[in-house]
Amino acid sequence: MTFAQPSTDHRQRAAAPLSTAAATPATIAEIAQGLLAPSAWTSPKYLYDALGSKLFEAICALPEYYPTRTEAAIFARHGFDIAQAVGPGSTLIDLGAGNCAKAAGLFPLLQPGQYVAIDISYDFLSESLSRLQQRFPQIDMLGLGLDFFSGLDLPDSVRSGRRTFFYPGSSIGNFAPEQAIAFLREVRANAGSDGGLLIGVDLIKDEAILDAAYDDAIGVTAAFNLNMLRHLNLLMGADFDVRQWQHHGFFNAGESRVEMHLEARSEQLVRWQGGQRRFAKGERIHTEDSYKYTRASFVGLLEQAGFSAANIWTDEQNWFAVIHARAIRD
Ligand code: AVJ
Repeated sequence: MTFAQPSTDHRQRAAAPLSTAAATPATIAEIAQGLLAPSAWTSPKYLYDALGSKLFEAICALPEYYPTRTEAAIFARHGFDIAQAVGPGSTLIDLGAGNCAKAAGLFPLLQPGQYVAIDISYDFLSESLSRLQQRFPQIDMLGLGLDFFSGLDLPDSVRSGRRTFFYPGSSIGNFAPEQAIAFLREVRANAGSDGGLLIGVDLIKDEAILDAAYDDAIGVTAAFNLNMLRHLNLLMGADFDVRQWQHHGFFNAGESRVEMHLEARSEQLVRWQGGQRRFAKGERIHTEDSYKYTRASFVGLLEQAGFSAANIWTDEQNWFAVIHARAIRD
């Protein structure tokens, strides 16, 4: 097993769990730009420091958060067909591997030749991957601490034949449709003509179910969202008073997306290294979008990116889809 960390901020991160090192001036400037916009926003990637990754794991165990268990049920029920579509000995490239549990569950059927786990939260990833390598010593494993939101720059140690990009959990939903196409085009370019994509996509459904999934009864999603502020305090020397902010998560039907926001409970001044902003009471920071699709709309998006949706599996309620797409040969 090998680990490699291409040049990202995560390289600076100390090994101690739950620690976060300060960001580079360029990263601080990038975050500040969003915070200073008329409607303040932050990239959802800052939800994932070590604690954020653990909170997301907790979200996945919530009764309201249907995507994880629905997708897992699809994998469990159709695992054999999925493995047959992908074929054994592939190079499985896990985009946003996290605790690597989803890929690991597929290993016995999928039998990949190489497993490449990529995640922005590098410390969390390397711990998970070390444990996984012990369970599956026969699979060549590689861990990459990479922010693929800013481009897919794969090292030569990633095998080039029969690459299958694994992008489960509907993480693609964080991209606006136009960005999703651009990202999938980049995946397509890295897949080669014999490559493919195994992707999980969350489907449009009853609004009440979507609202509850992103604003759960015991407040885990609220903690996950609020942890962004704690993370920003560490990253950019900010002084967000986390108690002065409130979580909102709801479906915006017009945009076909769930939105997460943090709302100021009181008027306040927030300072950080090199900048500051006054927030009025009730003013919000938009922290995440999670786009929802119909089967047809997502297939259309795949085609625009150079993939054909060869197989689609869903649950009985049609809440979630797992799609195996093949590169359209050029
Ligand atoms: C990891 C982007 C798939 O959009 O459902 C969960 C993140 N945000 N609860 C999602 C998330 C709030 C999640 N993704």
